[in-house]
Amino acid sequence: MIVTSAPGKVILFGEHAVVYGKPALVGAIDKRIYVRVERRKDETIEIFSEDLKHKKTSFSLKNKTPQLPEEFEYVKEALAITFDFLDKSCGLDIKISSGIPPASGLGSSAAVSIATILAISKSLDTNLKDKEIARLGHKVELKVQGAASPTDTAIATFGGVLFVEPSKNAFERIDCSISLVIGYTGDARSTKELVKKVKLLKERNPSVIDPIIEDIGRVTREARKRLEKGEDIGELMNKNHELLEALGVSTKKLSTLVYKAREAGAMGSKLTGAGGGGSMIAYTPKNQEKVIKAIEDLGCMALKAQISKEGVRVEK
Ligand code: MEV
Repeated sequence: MIVTSAPGKVILFGEHAVVYGKPALVGAIDKRIYVRVERRKDETIEIFSEDLKHKKTSFSLKNKTPQLPEEFEYVKEALAITFDFLDKSCGLDIKISSGIPPASGLGSSAAVSIATILAISKSLDTNLKDKEIARLGHKVELKVQGAASPTDTAIATFGGVLFVEPSKNAFERIDCSISLVIGYTGDARSTKELVKKVKLLKERNPSVIDPIIEDIGRVTREARKRLEKGEDIGELMNKNHELLEALGVSTKKLSTLVYKAREAGAMGSKLTGAGGGGSMIAYTPKNQEKVIKAIEDLGCMALKAQISKEGVRVEK
């Protein structure tokens, strides 16, 4: 039996624009998804999860597989793509336990894909390099979502804080400390649908939407400089949120959380991830408890987030 885990994430700056080649700043958080796999004697794949909305599914990759719930699609594609890359396969019992709410904008899909890829490679006695795991994970997201940047799968693999630059096919580690509170609306949403929504908006209105994407890129580059110098990033976070509202990916509830967090003393706040529900982050070098209370008073879940240095790993 093998158990692996990978961290969830918060996008600090640059979501959506990163799908169009602009940079993103992303941090791994200390909430992880665990994947336990055991080899079977037959070719069946059985996936079981206590925490995800859908509890159980069973299929064989040798046959045409049925359309699975979105969260299990990531696991199915991770299996298919990794078996194909390693040119080996086997039947598996897979058990997923998650400390990250599904479809919350906190990277559960990337974390489950990356932890699954490592677990499969270990079950087949192979050692994939982290770079290969991240690359295969990105392929999984592309397959399931249609369009995806390498941001979420890179952070689930490497941990820490990364400046991801898809146009250069590169990412750099950023050494910084940042105090955050996460607010989760409780409203699940689909990254695939939100990425598609922005794509259609951009296709219909390129002269309006392209400059917004450019501006998000500029805000992200500036935020990187300030983070590296240990300077305040609050104002830039607010600006990033306004630009995301202009892309139409916030909701009334999400923006209410964002503005209430500022009223309670956050130095900046924005939605994080794809939007459409999901989560927001508040930058809280001070007033953390007040911000948590403001989020909870709105009936939402507040989490203090620590940046996790560790990416994907095999559990002892
Ligand atoms: C989702 O966490 C972030 C998006 O930018 C999509 C992506 O980067 O693939 C919305």
